[in-house]
Amino acid sequence: MEKTLSILKPDAVARNITGKVNERLEAAGLKIVAQKRLLLTKAQVGKFYEIHRDKAFYDSICEYMSSGPVVVQVFAGPNAVEVNRKTMGATNPANAEVGTIRRDFGESIERNVVHGSDSQENAVAEIAFFFSQMEIVE
Ligand code: CMP
Repeated sequence: MEKTLSILKPDAVARNITGKVNERLEAAGLKIVAQKRLLLTKAQVGKFYEIHRDKAFYDSICEYMSSGPVVVQVFAGPNAVEVNRKTMGATNPANAEVGTIRRDFGESIERNVVHGSDSQENAVAEIAFFFSQMEIVE
């Protein structure tokens, strides 16, 4: 079973649509094997999004992701990374296919409901960033 990291962003938590998003991912064949609600500091988000440090949107995404509670999750299932990415849709909701999470619930490229790991390699690192082995129950 492959695993991937998902984050329900502050817009999803504030609008209380976490269940709707989970429903889409579960219907796609994924299972929540770890989950917790966190209020991240800007520094913690900065470390998580380190790969984007040089991008113009870095400061803004760090500010935004620390502006309210998030729910971090590990999803498991066959081809979890790819299935999660397909179900989320493109980063920018305006470019995402109809029926995807971001297209149906996203407000902007920043307030785009969810984060999902973009490769198996990054999934391993992102899961380790937030969870210990003990917190992941398959
Ligand atoms: P995410 O998959 O969480 O990874 C980085 C986030 O930065 C991305 O989703 C978007 O929410 C946000 N972001 C803001 N502006 C941009 C941009 N121009 N390109 C890519 N991501 C952006």
